[in-house]
Amino acid sequence: MPLFGSTKETRVDYSRLPRHIAIIMDGNGRWAKSRGLPRTAGHAVGAETFRTIATYCREIGIEYLTVYAFSTENWKRPMEEVSAIMGLLKKYLLEAIADMEKEKVRFVFFGDLSPLPAELRELAEETQRRSAGYEGCQVNICLNYGGRDEILRAAKALAAECVEGKRSPDTMTEEDISNHLWSAGVPDPDLVIRPSGEVRLSNFLLWQSAYAEFYVTDVSWPDFSKEDLRKALAAYQGRSRRFGGV
Ligand code: IPE
Ligand code: IPE
Ligand code: MG
Repeated sequence: MPLFGSTKETRVDYSRLPRHIAIIMDGNGRWAKSRGLPRTAGHAVGAETFRTIATYCREIGIEYLTVYAFSTENWKRPMEEVSAIMGLLKKYLLEAIADMEKEKVRFVFFGDLSPLPAELRELAEETQRRSAGYEGCQVNICLNYGGRDEILRAAKALAAECVEGKRSPDTMTEEDISNHLWSAGVPDPDLVIRPSGEVRLSNFLLWQSAYAEFYVTDVSWPDFSKEDLRKALAAYQGRSRRFGGV
């Protein structure tokens, strides 16, 4: 069993990695504020962290990485901050498109893109379309995403199919719900990471995280490094996942 890493805390067995890692990219604003910078400066550094961590996940062979970029509740923020986040997402997607051939990352967006600025929405759709055939890591970007919104949409779609006579409520299964979520076809996350000290899900992957291992750290997202990811992986590998069994 190959074991790498400088200390026990970061010793990772690369033959037993989680298939799917999900990250709540939190703490950008506080990171910036503590340095006397505007919150948007934190978002810019956070976008760089995302690049580093996504590349690292691809390199070590993680199959699925899901990141929370903008929630259905984040529209409550001041307009200037929302616009800055949308601008950064646009910049990132333009860079991702340029790197696509080399990286072979498949991008998928979870969330209703229709309220986004048209240019960003089109870029997101183009990125998803152009990368659909790539067989490297799949990166799911949660954008205008909310776990409750996602479940509500699934419930509405299933109810409509019942009304149309295409299915019956009696025979509905958990799998039917899974298949109507943005994440249809993606295995549930094994590990959910939240940097920046908050210990809550904030409406992230509510259905899918039923048996995910949760890892929280006080390190803020702009400071989150490959070493921090290795710590999360080492902690994950030390857990005993029982799924309700013994
Ligand atoms: C996460 O960082 C990024 C988004 C929610 C878009 P925050 O902006 O929530 O940063 P904090 O939590 O206020 O520090
Ligand atoms: C969750 O973080 C959303 C993203 C990281 C995109 P928030 O900062 O919005 O969550 P709360 O408000 O602390 O719960
Ligand atoms: Mg936050």
